Amino acid sequence: MIIIKADKITKTYSIKKNINIILKNITFSIKKNEFVFVVGPSGSGKSTLLYVLSGIEDYSSGSILLFDKELNTYSDKEMSIIRQKKIGFVFQSYNLIPNLNVYDNVKLAVILGNNKLDNINKCLEQVKMLEYKDYYPNQLSGGMQQRVAIARALVNDPEIIFADEPTGNLDNKNGIEVMEIFKDLNKKLGKTIIMVTHNVDLIKFGTRVIELFDGKILSDEKLY
Ligand SMILES: Nc1ncnc2c1ncn2[C@@H]1O[C@H](COP(=O)(O)OP(=O)(O)OP(=O)(O)O)[C@@H](O)[C@H]1O
Ligand SMILES: [Mg+2]
Repeated sequence: MIIIKADKITKTYSIKKNINIILKNITFSIKKNEFVFVVGPSGSGKSTLLYVLSGIEDYSSGSILLFDKELNTYSDKEMSIIRQKKIGFVFQSYNLIPNLNVYDNVKLAVILGNNKLDNINKCLEQVKMLEYKDYYPNQLSGGMQQRVAIARALVNDPEIIFADEPTGNLDNKNGIEVMEIFKDLNKKLGKTIIMVTHNVDLIKFGTRVIELFDGKILSDEKLY
């Protein structure tokens, strides 16, 4: 089942009088349960692609069907429901709220998603952070903060998880631990994952690799 279908999408940014074309005629589809890596040099448009596919940024032309409906025809209200319930986003820099403890950081996502609070402990357990539920972000290591950010992205049980270099700030050991969590989410819970990485060693965790170069798809390879 296809859950994202991008057809000839372009994205431009205007800076003063210059128009920069960041994404150029990007066409591909993502099926439910794929684990897609997006790779490519710095500045090739990886983050922009994730932002556009997840509705954080507009696209300039082309078509994106997200859950079978053109993304830019969702109303603001529909889009916020999708963001709260159907997609989760994990950022490289965690983006936890400093004056909320671990539990409350995750709880905030539940409240915004109008969901039941029952799931919070289970998600914290899943990322092995339950015993740190009373800690504040500045009392945690980077790997721990990233695990809380993953719990927050998961807590409303989204179908798609976008992750922009979620291991970029972590050492090798913490990076592998975080990747094991994503692998389980994909394999055991059937989540669709779209992840940007610079680290070619991680690609083995995925099912497909899309390589961007200068805003275009250079290659798109199924791993198995
Ligand atoms: N808000 C913006 N306004 C103008 N230009 C932007 C904006 N965001 C990104 N760009 C430009 O788009 C291009 C692609 O940026 P993007 O962040 O998608 O690259 P990336 O592949 O994620 O790079 P990195 O690996 O360094 O994170 C860059 O040239 C960048 O300058
Ligand atoms: Mg980026």
